[in-house]
Amino acid sequence: MILAFNGSPRVKGNTAAMLQAALDGAASTGAETRLIQLYHMNYKGCVSCFSCKLKKGRHGHCAMKDELSPVLEMMEEADALIFGSPIYYNNVTPELLALEHRFLFSHMLYNKENRWVFSRRIPSAFVYTFGMTAEHTDSIVGQFSAVHTRMGEMLGVPSEICCSANAWQFSDYSLYEADRYDPAEKKKYRDEVFPEDCRRAFDLGRRLALAKP
Ligand SMILES: Cc1cc2nc3c(=O)[nH]c(=O)nc-3n(C[C@H](O)[C@H](O)[C@H](O)COP(=O)(O)O)c2cc1C
Repeated sequence: MILAFNGSPRVKGNTAAMLQAALDGAASTGAETRLIQLYHMNYKGCVSCFSCKLKKGRHGHCAMKDELSPVLEMMEEADALIFGSPIYYNNVTPELLALEHRFLFSHMLYNKENRWVFSRRIPSAFVYTFGMTAEHTDSIVGQFSAVHTRMGEMLGVPSEICCSANAWQFSDYSLYEADRYDPAEKKKYRDEVFPEDCRRAFDLGRRLALAKP
């Protein structure tokens, strides 16, 4: 099963479209796929209880009990993971970050060796959508690269990153205070560049599904 997580509140927005394209790519290889809408669920981020680090604790298991618990269980069995988010103030949304923290921290021990307790090697990717144009996306993603690095270490394969810039935000730009945008330019970008971004996401999903780490 290839799992994708939408960290956008807009369940049919740009991030969802990119994630669906990635899952379509995975499905084109025959893989089973599932898109999980994080904003449909009630949960919190890591509360630093350290249960996952107790000598007699259940390592690799988050002790918090909420609607994220069954999702974290599913992640243990997944063949690949795709984390998606719109960029809010140069970071991912709190909902995606909460999932990332709970997943990463519960699988990490403060030991010198055998630091990660994930039993398999599986590929992962991060899919990000930006309101801003493409020239700044790499440097912004670089600001939270610790999550990408740690995820790759934990899962045993470096993570991939796929960005889409200049997102289409409103169905009718004339209704909004947004004169920094030219609606015709925005539409052209949505019609000509965004489909290309979705094609890159499709190829990414295919690659993840075919990977044999
Ligand atoms: C609270 C908030 C903060 C935002 N901050 C940024 C930002 O720092 N950089 C940026 O490029 N876009 C920013 N945006 C625009 C979103 O990234 C853009 O609307 C989103 O990628 C669209 O994806 P969606 O359709 O999946 O929601 C922000 C949007 C919101 C609502």
